[in-house]
Amino acid sequence: MKKKRVLSGIQPTGKLHLGNLLGALENWKKLQEQYECFFFIADYHALTSLYDNPKELNDIIKDVAIDLLSVGIDPNKSVLFKQSDVPEHAELHLLLSMITPLAWVQRVPSYKSKIKEMQGKDLGTYGFLGYPVLQAADILIYKADYVPVGEDQLPHIELTREIGRRFNSYYSNVFPEPKDLLTKMPNVPGLDGRKMSKSYNNTINLSDSSAELKKKVNMMITDPARITKKDKGHPDVCTIFAFHKMFNKDSLEVISKECKGAERGCVQCKKEILEHLEKYLAPIQKKREEILKHPKKIDDLLSQGAAKARKIAAATLAQAKQSMGLA
Ligand code: TRP
Repeated sequence: MKKKRVLSGIQPTGKLHLGNLLGALENWKKLQEQYECFFFIADYHALTSLYDNPKELNDIIKDVAIDLLSVGIDPNKSVLFKQSDVPEHAELHLLLSMITPLAWVQRVPSYKSKIKEMQGKDLGTYGFLGYPVLQAADILIYKADYVPVGEDQLPHIELTREIGRRFNSYYSNVFPEPKDLLTKMPNVPGLDGRKMSKSYNNTINLSDSSAELKKKVNMMITDPARITKKDKGHPDVCTIFAFHKMFNKDSLEVISKECKGAERGCVQCKKEILEHLEKYLAPIQKKREEILKHPKKIDDLLSQGAAKARKIAAATLAQAKQSMGLA
């Protein structure tokens, strides 16, 4: 039986962090064992908000490529590429824009929420409004069966299906309906206890040195009610405890009991979680060092990935153009 096809993208908006790893990449790694996977760096998408800083974007794209390879996205198993190396995405986006009602994109929840989140950034652009149409093109151009995403992306997948259906009914049946593969995202808090996110500047990056990691763990917020070790703790509100839940599952009961009974201090908790994080990140960092020994190979891998992706993208685009009277 032919393997089902999976497609997903990640925006290069900064170095990848633990939230990206636990939320998406660990899942991608599993999927590549089972499906025909296409994973890409969504640089066109990043430009919709980073358009005023192209110099930085170039460096970030490199960093993200290294991060993806170092966590184990394997170019021998998955097709790994950079979106703009497959310009067919942009052309299909243009075609789809012809049939996408304005109201459909205006009502996508991420449109208003991201504008709010990124205050100070002018997102009143044509390109930013079209963000989910571009995403629809990404997905439809590979006729993907499954799209692994977090909950926040579900409206984009729904819009993708709607645009695909509209295309099929106007012209001819080119696009099968993609299904979302909802990734159960563990709630990974950042250093300040809010969701770990680049925009909150509270991340632990996969590429952080051990000195940086230590500094960050020391900065992490614990139970505010614990001024000294003698105060009884509340693990449920403690960011460090949330990390123990993810990286030190075996000791949870003991830690919880000792914290509640004021028998252990936050310093000890931080020391222990630091050790677990170091252990967890060590193989990733080791791989990163190997990759960095041959930086040219990264570009080669990405162009090989793009060549494979392009074959499929070009075939779908040709069908779409023909259907629309452009052949
Ligand atoms: N919008 C996605 C995000 O921010 C990234 C993305 C772009 C994507 N194109 C995609 C995800 C296609 C899945 C499929 O996370």
